Amino acid sequence: MSQQITVTEHLLLHQKQVPMATGRFTRLFNELILSAKLIHREVSKAGLVDVLGFTGDINVQGEEVKKLDEFSNRVLIHRLSRCGALCAMASEENADIIEIPDGLPTGDYFVIFDPLDGSSNIDANVSIGTIFSIYRRKSPGDSRLLASDYLQQGSEQVAAGYILYGSSTMMVFTTGDGVNGFTLDPSVGEFLLSHPNIRIPEQGNTYSVNEGYYHYWDEPTLEVLAHFKAAGMTRKKPYSLRYIGSLVSDFHRNLIYGGIFMYPADSRDPSKPSGKLRLMCEAAPMAFIVEQAGGMAIDGVNRILDIVPQHLHQRVPLFVGSKKDVEQVRAIYEKARQA
Ligand code: AHG
Ligand code: MN
Ligand code: MN
Repeated sequence: MSQQITVTEHLLLHQKQVPMATGRFTRLFNELILSAKLIHREVSKAGLVDVLGFTGDINVQGEEVKKLDEFSNRVLIHRLSRCGALCAMASEENADIIEIPDGLPTGDYFVIFDPLDGSSNIDANVSIGTIFSIYRRKSPGDSRLLASDYLQQGSEQVAAGYILYGSSTMMVFTTGDGVNGFTLDPSVGEFLLSHPNIRIPEQGNTYSVNEGYYHYWDEPTLEVLAHFKAAGMTRKKPYSLRYIGSLVSDFHRNLIYGGIFMYPADSRDPSKPSGKLRLMCEAAPMAFIVEQAGGMAIDGVNRILDIVPQHLHQRVPLFVGSKKDVEQVRAIYEKARQA
């Protein structure tokens, strides 16, 4: 540890290099780090204490809420409310904007998070995560918060990252200057820089998608799938299929080894024509990270970071990962669009 940089040291060094960064941003980040440690502690006790299973509630997404979803959401809201850097926040679990309670200091940043991602995996002790995305409000800090202050396109993100509660707990993030990964050393309670300047391989050997929905996909999506199955024959090296069902874990594996994660639109539920994943708290932060690591993220044809959200919980098809693999997907959808 004596030789290693902690995430806080890394931020302080970074803060000196970026003139617009203020101590407030570091305070916001420190609350994210503390929240991650608190969630890590609870996740690592799952099975021993009563944190598994459902609360009995249904969230704004129409999904059953797990006890750890609720715990993680509560921790993040409580900690972030107190950092003094936020004008408001939003969560996958809350229908509306979460205001900073009266009497607490505020600031110019807006954060949106998925408190616990991959919660269907919790009870089976499979890796899960937390995703966050940070923007800066556009209107003056002393005026009323406008929808345009938080419905910003992903390219406006100031920072984005995730915490992966896996075989070790890791925090991976970007502030627009590359991607770095920090691993929690539980013996000292610090995230230490373990993966400096992460670069995703230009092409991968893995595709990740829930193929169980095959019968709900349109023709171009079936062609995308056929491409990854057949590509192995032409390159004489088949792609492997890996699908955990936790975006953070699937994304992280592909970030390190190369590959593509796909959650296409499907016809399962007419009320969700754009697939399942949420633009603001899932797709946009992953898109920012992957682009900063040299990869790509699209909704089929459009760059995810160019999409201006119409509402907080908007869903979007997502194809994210190694550049050449995502380009192949775009070529297939483009061809279908022009036909
Ligand atoms: P969440 O647990 O935050 O609702 O997100 C679950 C998401 C994502 O993590 C994963 O990639 C996807 O749901 C899996 O969905 P399917 O079970 O439909 O494959
Ligand atoms: Mn999620
Ligand atoms: Mn979630």
